[in-house]
Amino acid sequence: MDKLEGWQRTHYCGDLRKSDKGKEVILMGWVDTMRDHGGLIFIDVRDRHGKTQVVFDPEKSKDNYEKGKGLRKEYVIGIKGVVAERTPEMVNPKISTGEIEVLPSELKIFNKSLPIPFEIDATSDEINEELRLKYRYLDIRRSTMQNNLMIRHKFYQSTRKYFDELGFVEVETPMLMKSTPEGARDYLVPSRIWNGKFYALPQSPQTYKQILMVSGIDKYFQIVKCFRDEDLRADRQPEFTQIDVEMSFVEEENIYSVMEGLMVRVFKDVLDVNVKEKFPRLSYQEAMSRYGTDKPDLRWDLPIGDVTEIAKNSVFPVFEEAVKEGGNIVYINLKDMTEISRKEMDELSEQAKNYGTKGAFFIKVTEDGVSSSIKKHFEDDVFDKLIAKCGTEKGDVIIFMAQERDVVLRAMGNMRIEIIKKYNLPKKADYVFEWVTDFPLFEFNEEENRFQAMHHPFTSPKDEDISILDENPAGARAKAYDLVLNGNEIAGGSIRIHNKELQEKMFKLLNISEKEAKLKFGFLLNAFEYGAPPHGGIAFGFDRITMILSDTKSIREVIAFPKTNSALSLMDGCPSEVNSQQLKELGIKIIS
Ligand code: AMO
Repeated sequence: MDKLEGWQRTHYCGDLRKSDKGKEVILMGWVDTMRDHGGLIFIDVRDRHGKTQVVFDPEKSKDNYEKGKGLRKEYVIGIKGVVAERTPEMVNPKISTGEIEVLPSELKIFNKSLPIPFEIDATSDEINEELRLKYRYLDIRRSTMQNNLMIRHKFYQSTRKYFDELGFVEVETPMLMKSTPEGARDYLVPSRIWNGKFYALPQSPQTYKQILMVSGIDKYFQIVKCFRDEDLRADRQPEFTQIDVEMSFVEEENIYSVMEGLMVRVFKDVLDVNVKEKFPRLSYQEAMSRYGTDKPDLRWDLPIGDVTEIAKNSVFPVFEEAVKEGGNIVYINLKDMTEISRKEMDELSEQAKNYGTKGAFFIKVTEDGVSSSIKKHFEDDVFDKLIAKCGTEKGDVIIFMAQERDVVLRAMGNMRIEIIKKYNLPKKADYVFEWVTDFPLFEFNEEENRFQAMHHPFTSPKDEDISILDENPAGARAKAYDLVLNGNEIAGGSIRIHNKELQEKMFKLLNISEKEAKLKFGFLLNAFEYGAPPHGGIAFGFDRITMILSDTKSIREVIAFPKTNSALSLMDGCPSEVNSQQLKELGIKIIS
């Protein structure tokens, strides 16, 4: 194999233009493609910046030509040569270097490559994902992955610049910390020095960032890895990255405006897209009742409405039964959709059954009037009221479902998205953000028959709900908020409790004894005894936002070395067994 021997690259493979004609250049990279055209060999040499065509001509140099013949895909080479203009019929307008080619005076082969398991120019969908993950180093050579990682890089830089300009301090917090399981399971790390004891990898730096507020850091941020042992999905990885933020002496409004500024800056820097500040806000209750989810995709309006009060006066058995059982009758109104056929309605109704309801029921208003299978169950005047309540106009199709409130709202929320996708309904904008606010403070854990914190136990209740904590904990709202983008929860946070009495009350309501609280969170509670300022914060899912910025469907596409949905790393084969000596040192015995 050849050596560099002082060769210095003069240009990247995407750099050369017609104006460089006649220059002597040195390029380095990988052999992308090879074509043998009647005595001439054309190769494309590729690096992160693009491709350049190199032509080996035996008339010019027999030696180079013979050496060039031995090249194969993905060999690593260096080319010294002169830039020439391509003849007009050879110009390739699709690539930036399409008007030139390099005529080599010398070829160096730095390394060979085994035959590749997939083509580097294939699209992501054309290659089996497991193969991509196993050969991730080749997968990352693909332009899509290079582009995704560049977007990620720009996102890091934009974030750091933004927070630095606002006076935030980036502080690293430990990766080995105390296990305080809440929410997801911890990843545990056994201690060799303290056999039988474990560190946990952080699910988030939550406690540390609050302690940093007690320490007077005032405005903290960190781009940080977090670890959660939970069921994986397209938008969830066992290790993922957060932009973690905490601020002192702030209320919700301060958090909203700084974070909106971050998103505006990032979308401008990374995509050159102007996002409008002043993101709309919805309370959790509004989000649930209007969209059937706490992370509605507001690129489309299509809200859910409630017609229980009117529709309960029908004799339609499904509606009657739902109302008798305390349920609700809800609808969405699809504008200009009368082309939906009988068969499609039946399919949607079947879909509604999959969501746990008794099906979907329709009213269609065409030129010829109203058609509906449920009309016969209504007195005329009640039916008219129903139609009026739904804001019905000619061209509308109204879909109804009836069931227990939670079930029917969730079902209608799913149906809303299903229809938007199926009928490719026009969206209002490419990126729509909204704040979802006023989350319930607690959620009831049926399995354990107790309330648990919906966000975390340090989240402050709304001031006006402190008085109802004892008699109506389920009705208490939190100073907690999520930021949603295109139906994805991209950030979540809260204003924290900084008052000892209120914190103790929260623990009591959460059924966490004084002893348990001390054991789990003693260090934080101790710190709070030494002058904790009012504070609050938020954490962004960095990978989820990168996924949206790069218009991909899975966060695995924007993480260099992700795990599969079963938490495996196919490239390096982890998790893996360890040898008995390692286990012995850790005092661990494998029992299964
Ligand atoms: P939370 O648990 O809501 O809040 O997490 C913040 C954001 O992180 C992203 N996220 C994930 N991304 C990929 N894979 C996962 N497994 C995963 N889990 C969460 C989501 C989510 O909105 N400490 C609090 C924040 C705070 O209160 O300041 C926290 O971690 O986009």
